[in-house]
Amino acid sequence: MKQQFDKYTEEDSLVWKTLFERQEKNLQDKACEEYLDALEDMKDVLNANKIPNFSELNHWFESKTGWEIYCVPGLIPVDQFFDLLSRKKFCSSTWLRTIDQLDYLEEPDMFHDTFGHIPLLSNPVFSNFAYEFGKLGKSLANDQNKVLMLQRLYWFTIEFGLIEQNGLKIYGAGIASSFGESISSLADGSQKHKFEMEEVLNRVFKTDEIQNTYFVIDSFESLFESILVLTQKWSYELVS
Ligand SMILES: [Fe+2]
Repeated sequence: MKQQFDKYTEEDSLVWKTLFERQEKNLQDKACEEYLDALEDMKDVLNANKIPNFSELNHWFESKTGWEIYCVPGLIPVDQFFDLLSRKKFCSSTWLRTIDQLDYLEEPDMFHDTFGHIPLLSNPVFSNFAYEFGKLGKSLANDQNKVLMLQRLYWFTIEFGLIEQNGLKIYGAGIASSFGESISSLADGSQKHKFEMEEVLNRVFKTDEIQNTYFVIDSFESLFESILVLTQKWSYELVS
């Protein structure tokens, strides 16, 4: 599947511009510095004025962390998703929400997938975390229990993670791409727990409600370290 760039309409361009401008401004005091730095670094290929062209983004990544955008029609099976991540391919939809649906989405669209996820993949430490996560997922594709635990880890980090950085800041794409949740996640009223791998692996999440629990990492280095420790622990369990 390829991005059909000439099929985007004027409404698509307006939706993209509206979402991008609003959220870029909104995140200035809410997103972590790595995300904001990455957004700034990428501004030639990811900005409000043009729907991003995946070929240009992929070309930009070649001299950075080597990720590639892989077009998907929507949600895909988890084993395929892990396999793609393990090859540094990140899935993105190519469709955009409509102008009257700016704040309501049943499935992730291209704004979520690119504005939310893509910038941090240019950060070497976060990139390594996502890559190790994919490799671990691929190696465990037949173990349903561990796959479920990894889905929780993904949910509470890559999608809905917070980081301590002179106060709470956002790094999860599900929050970074949502105007409402980028405000509500940092406010009182939801629970924030220090990131503990075992707790996250066992924490059930719901996809159809606004989050009431977030896990807070203290750095991307420690997040990366934690996936290496988990990989080692699980591979030891396999052989013992
Ligand atoms: Fe996502």
